[in-house]
Amino acid sequence: MVQGKKILVVGLANKYSIASAISRSLHSNGAELGFSYQNERFEKFITSFSQDCGNGPTFKCDLSSDKDIQNLVADVVKKWGKFDGIVHSVGFAPAEQISGNIEDCITREGFTITHDISSYSFAGLLKECYPHMSESSSALTLTYIGSQEATQNYNVMGMAKASLEASVRYFASTLGERGIRVNSISAGPIKTLAASGIKGFKSMLNSHGKETPLGRNITAEEVGNTASFLLSDMSSGITGQNIYVDGGYSIQSKKPD
Ligand SMILES: NC(=O)c1ccc[n+]([C@@H]2O[C@H](COP(=O)([O-])OP(=O)(O)OC[C@H]3O[C@@H](n4cnc5c(N)ncnc54)[C@H](O)[C@@H]3O)[C@@H](O)[C@H]2O)c1
Repeated sequence: MVQGKKILVVGLANKYSIASAISRSLHSNGAELGFSYQNERFEKFITSFSQDCGNGPTFKCDLSSDKDIQNLVADVVKKWGKFDGIVHSVGFAPAEQISGNIEDCITREGFTITHDISSYSFAGLLKECYPHMSESSSALTLTYIGSQEATQNYNVMGMAKASLEASVRYFASTLGERGIRVNSISAGPIKTLAASGIKGFKSMLNSHGKETPLGRNITAEEVGNTASFLLSDMSSGITGQNIYVDGGYSIQSKKPD
């Protein structure tokens, strides 16, 4: 499906990361992968993960730094020349921003950091990457329904995800003429490092599955396979869209009690 496509995966932390399931699906469908990771803490895991997934290049990049993003793209271009895809599977909010009522926890600093890492980083990456992307390429980011619904404790992260989803539409509208498509996947809850930071995540995960039309939570593998589709030419007519991989949760006007 993505045979021979060169795809940069940003946001792999450990085996539970959504980026891990996306990478495994892309690899099994024939993509050539490169990985960027936030800092030294993740280096050992990324090195061994990369060896299992085609032995592609790995790069360190803290997305809060413009210089790091520029260096990352320069290194990717040195290695690959033009490339065909980006997966941005990144999010961060300071713990106190995603805990309790928004009026009690929101701060200017917390808002800024959350939007910088969880939304701007996608725009910053695309801004540097697009001149080097092929005429049949695709960029993908990950979002959550807390951008559309007030979700307990999600707070500032919900605002950042709304911004991220708008960013998908804006970039899609201008990069389309260069053959670059831009989409997001809105995933249902999955137990990962980032998700564990959201207060009450465990009980949300437990109840969520029962509230979906499919009657269960989705898996990271299901997100991975949808990502492979969106990064492949099979989705060549789709851009600027947010695709829900949430067991149908988002279509219901009233969730079952
Ligand atoms: N897990 C869920 O329930 C769920 C649901 C919907 C959407 N998402 C989204 O999926 C994406 C991936 O999250 P995940 O759940 O796999 O968790 P994760 O913790 O495995 O991944 C988050 C990644 O963001 C990276 N990151 C954070 N700050 C960074 C920085 N300054 N520079 C570079 N990288 C940085 C981390 O290193 C990590 O690799 C996020 O955007 C998240 O909001 C998650």
